[in-house]
Amino acid sequence: MTRSLAYVANPRDGPVSTGATFTVRICTWSEAAKALRRVRYAVFVVEQGVPEVLEWDASDESAVHALAENASDRPIGCARLLNDGHIGRVAVVRDWRRQGVGRALMQRLIGVARERGDPVVIVNAQVAAMPFYAGDGFAATGAQFEEAGIDHHVMTRRLR
Ligand code: COA
Repeated sequence: MTRSLAYVANPRDGPVSTGATFTVRICTWSEAAKALRRVRYAVFVVEQGVPEVLEWDASDESAVHALAENASDRPIGCARLLNDGHIGRVAVVRDWRRQGVGRALMQRLIGVARERGDPVVIVNAQVAAMPFYAGDGFAATGAQFEEAGIDHHVMTRRLR
């Protein structure tokens, strides 16, 4: 899926194309581990200080992954969908944030979950990222909890 991005620099001027494009593809861990690791290492390990031992787990092997790449095929974002409907490890490299990459990753994985008949998708949302998930139709359920030293909230979205 290729997405052309457009911004409104000044609402009276109308949309202005920046020329920035990216693609999002579905892949397995064995197909794209290097690229997925690159994004998650930069965002979670380096930027957020998550211990590496917590970042990589056995779920990567069985998950459906979404990978965003720029026009030069450089990995810029990723996310994964587990067999139980949890979407996680949603990460976009700093330079590409607020340009629709995170939304595109979520929509792609929600589409996969819907197609395979999942009744609901679930995220363990970092509290700071809750508005991002709320924009995709997720609602907070249950209590706040701590994971890898960061406050989280369970959020769910019904698919049927
Ligand atoms: N707070 C509030 N709103 C946010 C937000 C934030 N931190 N990040 C994005 N949004 C909103 C955007 O304004 C946009 O709203 P709109 O559709 O009404 O315009 C919407 O969410 C989609 O934004 P998008 O540009 O697609 O998001 P992104 O590519 O910047 O990715 C994250 C969002 C959270 C994945 C990205 O900021 C990131 O990688 N953060 C660090 C890792 C992280 O915290 N991951 C989440 C773990 S639970």
